[in-house]
Amino acid sequence: MVLSDYAHLLPAYRSHAELSDNERIAWIRADRWLETAQANSALIRLEDLLSYPPRDRMPCLLLYGDTGMGKTKIIRKFLRNHPAIFDRGTGETVMPVVAMQMPAEPLERDVYGELLNALGAPGPSSDAAFRLKSVCRSLMRRMGVRMLVIDEIHAMLTGTFRQQRIFLNVIRFLANDLKVPLICAGTDLAQQALLTDPQLAERFEAFHLERWSNNQRLTQLLSSLVSIFPLRQPSAVTSPAVRRRVLELTDGVTVRIFRLMETVATDAIHNGSECITADSFSREDLVLPLVSMARHSERSLHRRSAR
Ligand SMILES: Nc1ncnc2c1ncn2[C@@H]1O[C@H](COP(=O)(O)OP(=O)(O)O)[C@@H](O)[C@H]1O
Ligand SMILES: [Mg+2]
Repeated sequence: MVLSDYAHLLPAYRSHAELSDNERIAWIRADRWLETAQANSALIRLEDLLSYPPRDRMPCLLLYGDTGMGKTKIIRKFLRNHPAIFDRGTGETVMPVVAMQMPAEPLERDVYGELLNALGAPGPSSDAAFRLKSVCRSLMRRMGVRMLVIDEIHAMLTGTFRQQRIFLNVIRFLANDLKVPLICAGTDLAQQALLTDPQLAERFEAFHLERWSNNQRLTQLLSSLVSIFPLRQPSAVTSPAVRRRVLELTDGVTVRIFRLMETVATDAIHNGSECITADSFSREDLVLPLVSMARHSERSLHRRSAR
């Protein structure tokens, strides 16, 4: 193969076009990180907060947007950029960024339990909240934690009103007491809940992940996808018609755009066309997996809030 054969692909991805159909389909469906304009701005913001010198009131950030907009992806990428490091000399682990899960129920003790888990030190869950709290505090200091991230903060909305108030208190404590920036990620509902607390509203800067719309950014996203998908012919995805169709099918939600593009790329391999064009999006049954996907996520949210 002459690598310049696949001039429509980025050089590093050209050799993939030579793989078998099955291998290429597996590659298309594999999990990957793609730098998008908004994700990049969010990462720059996080980087900036991480380098913030300790002071009494550390700035906090709420990364919010609809389910599937890429919040968790951004956090995972940031964690990969700042991994925990085990120091053989001291025998201690340094963990610049800690990302914790939301507990199944927004109970104070469980929040600290999850934080201990994230620090790699699951404690006796029978301990009282105040005790877990102080263990967390000293561990974080010892491990050189400079940022705490809590994803899926909207899970607090499954709690009773009282639990939600208590949970907001916990967040306030974490934001005030730990002297590290606190990053919360969640849906727009979480943003509303967090901002009902005036103190938190004052501390948190909000970063909204906006849905994709009919503009150059969307063209950029589609173009970067087709520059890495191992198809053998050049695709044509820069027309306004393609943008409109993609938005119609996905409502501008990141995960749906990725799934849609993966679907049409896989189709292009199956049907031998080897490229994505406006026609790729006109197949009748294309809508079905997307619609069922949307229903599925609504259902799972429902299940959660019914708990
Ligand atoms: N920057 C990105 N690069 C690659 N895939 C992404 C990116 N952002 C979102 N995705 C796709 O969308 C899916 C949902 O993203 P996720 O971060 O879980 O959304 P959220 O946490 O906002 O609900 C991911 O599993 C991935 O397939
Ligand atoms: Mg998420």
